[in-house]
Amino acid sequence: MFCVVAVADDSREATSSLNSPGDASQAWADLAPDYERARSREDSLDRLVEWPAQRDLLGDVTGRSVLDLGCGNGGKLADLVREGATAAVGVDVSGNFLGAPPPGLELIQGDLNELDSVAGLAGRTFDRILFLQSFGYAKHPVRTLQAARTMLADDGFILLTRTHPIRYAVERAEQNGTALGEEYYSKDSYTYRTGWNEQIALTKRTYTISDLVNEFSAAGLWIETAIEPQLSEDARRRYPHKQEWMNKYLGILIFKLRPLPAD
Ligand SMILES: C[S@@+](CC[C@H](N)C(=O)[O-])C[C@H]1O[C@@H](n2cnc3c(N)ncnc32)[C@H](O)[C@@H]1O
Repeated sequence: MFCVVAVADDSREATSSLNSPGDASQAWADLAPDYERARSREDSLDRLVEWPAQRDLLGDVTGRSVLDLGCGNGGKLADLVREGATAAVGVDVSGNFLGAPPPGLELIQGDLNELDSVAGLAGRTFDRILFLQSFGYAKHPVRTLQAARTMLADDGFILLTRTHPIRYAVERAEQNGTALGEEYYSKDSYTYRTGWNEQIALTKRTYTISDLVNEFSAAGLWIETAIEPQLSEDARRRYPHKQEWMNKYLGILIFKLRPLPAD
């Protein structure tokens, strides 16, 4: 038996019957410790590539308020608070939070699909809003981005990272013996076991680059910067198995998104 975290979107039903936020919450509560353990390994791609690139794009956070949606245990926010961020709030459905967050960091168990009803967010605005590998859990991606957009302070931006969709296409093409393009453009959802805990599988709606870009513009956001971060020379030498993985699956996409001016 394995557990499936299902994610539906506006147009397609997830394949599993376990598709309510409550189910995702339970599955992530189970998965979260394994995820954090994997993330803290010295050769994790999060440590080697993702967080350094995300951190770089955030720039100086001194005096900036930050909201992290799908914040995991809140470790990244804790780093930002130590570097001068103020009024930092993390929301995660799993509730698997740091035992002793630094002063100024508030961690709230909540659903990014229901931002209006997350206690502690009402009426607040933030200079930086983060979706770091969590946007894939939005059931209505455009609605979630619109809700986040309304919480942006003047001159604020959203930092959003997603797994490169080519990764899922490569995996499915290998599993199904199909062509890469066939899988990349397939509208079927994709269920896969994570490397963090073999007992738990995730179901994701698939997407192409144009799906993502169109979601951003439908939510009234424009892309200021997009990057596809890679391992440093030093990390390639020290962790060739990670470079092999990156060569095959490409890694993640990171977008810095700003609100389009109102008409
Ligand atoms: C891949 S982890 C990323 C964690 C963290 N942002 C990071 O960069 O390390 C995805 C996170 O999204 C959270 N999540 C999944 N569904 C969610 C939902 N509906 N609302 C809030 N958080 C959710 C999970 O609990 C998990 O912590």
